[in-house]
Amino acid sequence: MIRPTQRTLLPRKAARGVLLLSVLLLGCLDREAAPTRASSFGERLFHEPRFSDSAFNNVSCATCHDTGPQPSASRLASGGTLHGVTARPSYFGGYELSLLGAVNFCYVYFMRGAPFDERDPKGKALYEYLTTLGPAPPRTSAPVPLTLVRNVADVPPGDVRDGALLYARACAVCHGDAHSGRGRIDANTPILPEITSSYPRDFPGIAPRLVVIEKVRHGQFFGVGGNMPFFGLETLSDAELGAILAFLGL
Ligand code: HEC
Ligand code: HEC
Repeated sequence: MIRPTQRTLLPRKAARGVLLLSVLLLGCLDREAAPTRASSFGERLFHEPRFSDSAFNNVSCATCHDTGPQPSASRLASGGTLHGVTARPSYFGGYELSLLGAVNFCYVYFMRGAPFDERDPKGKALYEYLTTLGPAPPRTSAPVPLTLVRNVADVPPGDVRDGALLYARACAVCHGDAHSGRGRIDANTPILPEITSSYPRDFPGIAPRLVVIEKVRHGQFFGVGGNMPFFGLETLSDAELGAILAFLGL
C-alpha cells in the first residue's frame, strides 16, 4: 500500500559512489580548509537555485541545509546541518557511502538537476566550500542518524499554537503562509491546507491527514514523484507533525 520510496533508491548507488568518492578525495586530501577562489564560488553555488539547470527549480542547498555546528533555531530545515559533512564516513543513515552520491541525490531529486561527476568544475567548487565548514584537521565526524518512516501511520493530535510555530519554521520557507501562500517559493508550490480539499476525490478512502503525513515523511505520494524533501524522525517528530496538522485543521 504505502511504500517507502526514497529508501529504495539509495543502496543501488552506493557501490559506484565509493569509487567516485575515492577519486574526489585524492585531489583534495592534503589541502587546507582555508577559503580559496574555488570555495567562494562553491559558497555562491550553495545559495543559488540556478546551480541547477532546471528552469523549474527554485530551491538551493541553503533552502534545506544549515552550515553551522548547530542547526539554526529559527527554522526547522528538512536537511541537517552540513558542518563536518566532508569528514562523515557515510550518509543518509548509512545508505549512501559517497559524499558525491549524497549531494547528487539532493541535486537530482530535490533540485531537478542532471547528476554531476567528479570532473565537474561546479562540483569541485562546491566540495571545496563544504570542506571549509569544519571540523578543523584532523577531520573526523560521526555519521548523522536518519530514520525514515517506512509505513506511514496516523500521528497523535497536537496543539494548534505549537503547530503554527512549527509550520512557520518547517513549511513556510516553501509553501508561504497557510491559506494565502504569501511568500511561497513559486506559484507551483501548493497552498496549504486548501490543496487538500481535492484529496477525498484523488485519494478515495484515505483520510486527508494521512495523505499529508505520507507527503511529509516520503516527499512523494504513494510512489508518485514530486520534489518536496522528506522529513526524517530526527528532524520532525510525530508529535510535531501532529501539531502542524492541527494548525492546518486536518
Ligand atoms: C529540498 C531540500 C534539499 C535540498 C535543496 C538539498 N538537500 Fe541535501 N538533504 C535533504 C534532506 C531531507 C536530507 C536527509 C536528511 C539529512 O541527513 O540531512 C539531505 C541530506 C544531504 C546530505 C547527507 C547528509 C548526511 O550526513 O547524511 C548531503 C551531503 C546533502 N544533503 C548535501 C546537499 C547539497 C550540497 C545540496 C545542494 C546541491 C543539497 N543537499 C540540497 C534536503 C535537501
Ligand atoms: C523545500 C521546500 C518545501 C518544504 C520545506 C516543504 N514543502 Fe511541501 N511541497 C513542496 C513542493 C515544491 C511541493 C509540490 C511538488 C511535490 O508534490 O513534491 C510540495 C507539496 C506538498 C504537499 C502536496 C500538495 C498537493 O499537491 O496535493 C503537501 C501536503 C505538503 N507539501 C506539505 C508540506 C508540509 C506540511 C511541510 C512542512 C512540514 C512542507 N510541505 C514542507 C516544497 C516543500
